[in-house]
Amino acid sequence: MFAWVVVLAVSAALALQAAQCYKPVIVVHGLFDSPGDFKMLQGFVNETHPGTNVTVIDLFDHTQSLKSLWSQVDGFKEAIYPIMQNAADGVHMICYSQGGLVCRGILSTLPDHNVDTLISLSSPQLGQYGDTNYLKWLFPHYVKSKLYHFCYTQIGQHVSICNYWNDPHHHDLYLNNSDYLAFLNSERENPNATAWRKNFLRIKKLVLIGGPDDGVITPWQSSHFGFYNENETVMDMRQQLVYIKDTFGLKSLDARGAISIFKVSNVHHTKWHSNRTVFDNCIIKWLT
Ligand SMILES: *[C@@H]1O[C@H](CO)[C@@H](O)[C@H](O)[C@H]1NC(C)=O
Ligand SMILES: *[C@@H]1O[C@H](CO)[C@@H](O)[C@H](O)[C@H]1NC(C)=O
Ligand SMILES: *[C@@H]1O[C@H](CO)[C@@H](O)[C@H](O)[C@H]1NC(C)=O
Ligand SMILES: *[C@@H]1O[C@H](CO)[C@@H](O)[C@H](O)[C@H]1NC(C)=O
Ligand SMILES: *[C@@H]1O[C@H](CO)[C@@H](O)[C@H](O)[C@H]1NC(C)=O
Ligand SMILES: *[C@@H]1O[C@H](CO)[C@@H](O)[C@H](O)[C@H]1NC(C)=O
Repeated sequence: MFAWVVVLAVSAALALQAAQCYKPVIVVHGLFDSPGDFKMLQGFVNETHPGTNVTVIDLFDHTQSLKSLWSQVDGFKEAIYPIMQNAADGVHMICYSQGGLVCRGILSTLPDHNVDTLISLSSPQLGQYGDTNYLKWLFPHYVKSKLYHFCYTQIGQHVSICNYWNDPHHHDLYLNNSDYLAFLNSERENPNATAWRKNFLRIKKLVLIGGPDDGVITPWQSSHFGFYNENETVMDMRQQLVYIKDTFGLKSLDARGAISIFKVSNVHHTKWHSNRTVFDNCIIKWLT
């Protein structure tokens, strides 16, 4: 009897401790999303790691997500910083689609962040160049080959998707005019490049998840830091100039063995956060 009480007390204490030691998880949504889209993901985490505090930041919902990414970085940062400060052991971030670029902006410009693992869930990390439905809805009068006329202007750069529009046939214009991605990657002259790299490198782990049936991110390899060359042939992460020159820390992370890449087939763009197989195989193990 006494032994059983001790066993029960010890296992209850262990269960409590396990629950308490899961780091908080912060979720940043993508284009046209809102926190409601992440109910399944929250349920998966609650079920597998009960007690985890998951916060889906409720900002820039729906069409507000078209606002420039630097303004989103400022807004999300303000909401996220107190959560970090409350988490002595650090936090994890799950950043979906466009949110993956917002998260990199936050991490690069926040010198005392305590993000342990950054999970990039089908994010166009090296940009987007593709005729998807989103694009046709937003810019009905443009085709992808012409969109640079709008995106690479001051007005264009007020629209989030232009902030990471990466036209491989107009790389010079991209470098000169992309106020967000080209800066974040320190592909264009960035006086803060050294500090931003150092800030970004505070993360312990970078998890890149994406796949060929995404249907929105184009090329889909952008989710793994691959991108088109000038002939629209996809070059992988390690062939990219930003990697080779380690302009923002990607090569350093890789050298540490801190990058895990998951290529998953048969997942459409809008399903990444609610697919249980993706969660079980690619996400849950990092949320410790
Ligand atoms: C977490 O799961 C428990 C047990 O299934 C449930 O009672 C609780 O409502 C869930 N909490 C959230 C936030 O989903
Ligand atoms: C979860 O984290 C948020 C942000 O730090 C905090 O306001 C909230 O109280 C936490 N919830 C629980 C149940 O600990
Ligand atoms: C980019 O900017 C540089 C310096 O201002 C300029 O010399 C160059 O012509 C620009 N390139 C393009 C393609 O606009
Ligand atoms: C960039 O550097 C300048 C001068 O060193 C500094 O004033 C500014 O706050 C920095 N900006 C960011 C976002 O780190
Ligand atoms: C792209 O194609 C052109 C014409 O075939 C070729 O001259 C050029 O070297 C190619 N560029 C790359 C980066 O492969
Ligand atoms: C979930 O992901 C798996 C791959 O891990 C895929 O085969 C399956 O089709 C996906 N299900 C849905 C509904 O997207």
